Amino acid sequence: MVSVTKQLSLDIIEDSTPRPKPINVASVPQLSPFRYPGGKTWFVPRFRQWIQSQPARPKLLVEPFAGGGIISLTAAAESLCDEVVMVELDAQVAAVWQTILSDDADWLINRIIRFEMTLENARRVLEDHYKETRDVAFQTIIKNRTVHGGILASGSGLLKHGENGKGVSSRWYPQTLARRIQQIHLIRHRIKFLHDDAFSVFNKYKNQKALFFIDPPYSIPGSKSAGSRLYTYWKIDHEKLFSICGGLQGSFVLTYDNAEEVVTLANQHGFQHRQIAMKNTHHAEMSELAISKDMSWLI
Ligand SMILES: C[S@@+](CC[C@H](N)C(=O)[O-])C[C@H]1O[C@@H](n2cnc3c(N)ncnc32)[C@H](O)[C@@H]1O
Repeated sequence: MVSVTKQLSLDIIEDSTPRPKPINVASVPQLSPFRYPGGKTWFVPRFRQWIQSQPARPKLLVEPFAGGGIISLTAAAESLCDEVVMVELDAQVAAVWQTILSDDADWLINRIIRFEMTLENARRVLEDHYKETRDVAFQTIIKNRTVHGGILASGSGLLKHGENGKGVSSRWYPQTLARRIQQIHLIRHRIKFLHDDAFSVFNKYKNQKALFFIDPPYSIPGSKSAGSRLYTYWKIDHEKLFSICGGLQGSFVLTYDNAEEVVTLANQHGFQHRQIAMKNTHHAEMSELAISKDMSWLI
């Protein structure tokens, strides 16, 4: 899993043969109110390619591990399909989506605009034990904007120094957040959110002609990184997920860390895979895998 910011440019490497195709990720509209660890903004141009390669405009896109939801939001905002179904198990993340898609969106926007971001005020919000969904949504947004890496799993510390020495304010852009929330609220008729377990949702949609964008939590075995640190819910049965994908009536794309174990699973299930490498402005390279029954859309 990688977290990537606007400045990223993207190259594709297929079958270990470098075929640089730089894409300026700054051109991808940032639609999500989250800064999400493992967020897939960098995949958006590839996602558009995939969805546009379908024989007909899809009616339904299902995103079973939605997180910050950039792929679903892009599909809804660009009208790439009729409806998107976003699924997320984490109650904090779920509260944000539920509130944005409800009549409480305005309340949330006002609360964000009126909030004076200081270390003390942020602490006060984070220490509260809210019950109402819209309060939890506000608390989640404050947490996501004030802790290191936007990591909502417990244990992440507040940005006391922050980037550029601005401390807790260094990632606080209330007007931008308000605009994004408003934009999502305006297209809510195309978005359905389910606070649920991805695996039960697969059952519901597996026989439908839906497209599935699947970005599960994953940690490379033996590495200290990713899944377990980044998300409250990080342990899933990957073997089971691959089996389910094999039985889906609609097409799917899975994204994963580039790990041997994942390549083995893809091969065992007869899926194709491609490595997608990103290079940031500091020339640091990261790569992930895109997996599907047929990867010929990735040109
Ligand atoms: C890699 S992140 C998804 C990031 C997302 N693609 C984005 O661009 O922001 C995986 C997400 O799956 C969620 N998750 C973990 N287990 C889940 C489950 N069983 N059902 C639904 N969501 C789950 C995690 O909370 C996390 O938000």
